[in-house]
Amino acid sequence: MPSLNDIRSTFLDYFRRNGHQVVDSSPLVPRNDPTLMFTNSGMVQFKNLFTGVERRDYVRATTAQKCVRAGGKHNDLDNVGYTARHHTFFEMLGNFSFGDYFKSDAIPFAWELLTKDFAIPKDKLLVTVYHTDDEAAGIWKKVAGLPDERIIRIPTDDNFWRMGPTGPCGPCTEIFFDHGDHIWGGPPGSKDEDGDRFIEIWNLVFMQNEQMPDGSLRVLDMQSIDTGMGLERIGALLQGKHDNYDTDLMRSLIEASANATSTDPDGPGKVHHRVIADHLRSTSFLIADGVMPSNEGRGYVLRRIMRRAMPMPTSWARRTR
Ligand code: ALA
Repeated sequence: MPSLNDIRSTFLDYFRRNGHQVVDSSPLVPRNDPTLMFTNSGMVQFKNLFTGVERRDYVRATTAQKCVRAGGKHNDLDNVGYTARHHTFFEMLGNFSFGDYFKSDAIPFAWELLTKDFAIPKDKLLVTVYHTDDEAAGIWKKVAGLPDERIIRIPTDDNFWRMGPTGPCGPCTEIFFDHGDHIWGGPPGSKDEDGDRFIEIWNLVFMQNEQMPDGSLRVLDMQSIDTGMGLERIGALLQGKHDNYDTDLMRSLIEASANATSTDPDGPGKVHHRVIADHLRSTSFLIADGVMPSNEGRGYVLRRIMRRAMPMPTSWARRTR
């Protein structure tokens, strides 16, 4: 069974072999970007490359990016512990093209990695495309041989990705894994889509627009690629689990929490152990990146996360609120 560390290496090595520069994760506090509270996706450190403001000596990159989604447009804080897949802190695996390759290469890259290197059975996969994107649907048909009913057209913002109120954005295609009919849930776009049967594992964004502060959408000079796959999610799938919190990395934290409190990791305190495991990761990485608990902005979000994870006497809790 591959560990999350093995899976991260397989992803980065695959894209390195395919001409991508392996770039370090950027800090959780975006540099010089007041539009964003925390780094919420792999593309954040490359924002200015997509808009053409900045150039580097590579046009293809791959990263394992630390992300926090606990404030702003992408906020998962209240779901943590209760669902199989929400985290405040997670790692996003991604490959990027800056005006180099576009849809006709991004889709085959993703398909090959999933079905060959990760050996996921093809008949377990289905995809969505933005409803007007005939080109992406055609590429999926050709490259993956998917029948029309497994290429689902979505007319909503679910298939148009934005980093925040402004910034680069574009239509996307998402790859889903079908966990089987013993689990409740319907395919994306159906009324039962919130069930756990069909799980999104990878989002491929066709970066071709910029959301402007006045609400308009500018067409970018170059066409680029931004993708994101949650390491904890693909890890659960490849480790034969249905719940991200059952993967090796999360499980070791849950067991440490249970040992420290002499309780059963899967007993009545199960949700608490999951919250502690998740929040330990976000607080540690936020503090390591220079955020300190405070009364406003990023520091206030950190304080909220810490308060949710820490048992404290009521009197003290009242004083620190
Ligand atoms: N930036 C895209 C996402 O976060 C890939 O889903």
